[in-house]
Amino acid sequence: MVGLVIANWKMHGSRAAATDFVDQWGSLPSVEGVEAVLCPPYPYLALIVGATTDLMLGAQNCAEPAEGAYTGEVSAKMLADMGCRYVIVGHSERRSFYGETDAQVATKAQRIVSAGMTAVVCIGEALADREAGAHEAVVSTQLQCSLQGVSAEGLVVAYEPVWAIGTGQTATPQQAEGMHAVIRTRLCEQYGEAGGGIPIIYGGSVKPGNAAELFCCNNIDGALVGGASLDAKSFWQIASASSVGRT
Ligand code: PGA
Repeated sequence: MVGLVIANWKMHGSRAAATDFVDQWGSLPSVEGVEAVLCPPYPYLALIVGATTDLMLGAQNCAEPAEGAYTGEVSAKMLADMGCRYVIVGHSERRSFYGETDAQVATKAQRIVSAGMTAVVCIGEALADREAGAHEAVVSTQLQCSLQGVSAEGLVVAYEPVWAIGTGQTATPQQAEGMHAVIRTRLCEQYGEAGGGIPIIYGGSVKPGNAAELFCCNNIDGALVGGASLDAKSFWQIASASSVGRT
């Protein structure tokens, strides 16, 4: 499977930062066997689409409805029209700050796939769930409910334990691999053979210094990177770590 590294800029960056990132990325050696995706805030999508062929374009969210009178929303179809190939859905920040439910995440994922893009569906347990030993059950339920009606084709699952996001506290490779193996089993139960081919990427304080040990794990097919993706060099280092053994 080709490695997949996705830069999630969240609500960071500027016109200048987006241009600099693409320039710097272009000056670094290309990374073989890995798909690198940049998900900037919406206004910067257009800046990036024409500026590089080395980076795929992605978005951080999309609207639940297909189109219509929804002020401030951006549809999956519009994102595809702008050249996006990936859209992140169900990030824990959207679930906690905007109350997004599994059912809404599933509808968005369906829209994304129907528009010809790949849906990066995020799931992950809170610290209290892990401390209570309920993490596998919580993640399994979230996965099943967030993928209702979503086809295996055009799907990536991102496991992001909420306690690891932006905290500097990465899951250990054992914790991450343990959960990725559970997710793999669930995907195979849901999709049969096709479930074995759905990429499962890890997110939560991935940095150049810890990427390699995570990517050594069998069921970790890449990373969703927040903070460390704002710097082109560090995102490139993570992408390079993911390329080891894939060419
Ligand atoms: P982080 O964010 O790498 O800054 O922890 C990951 C994410 O939220 O996708």
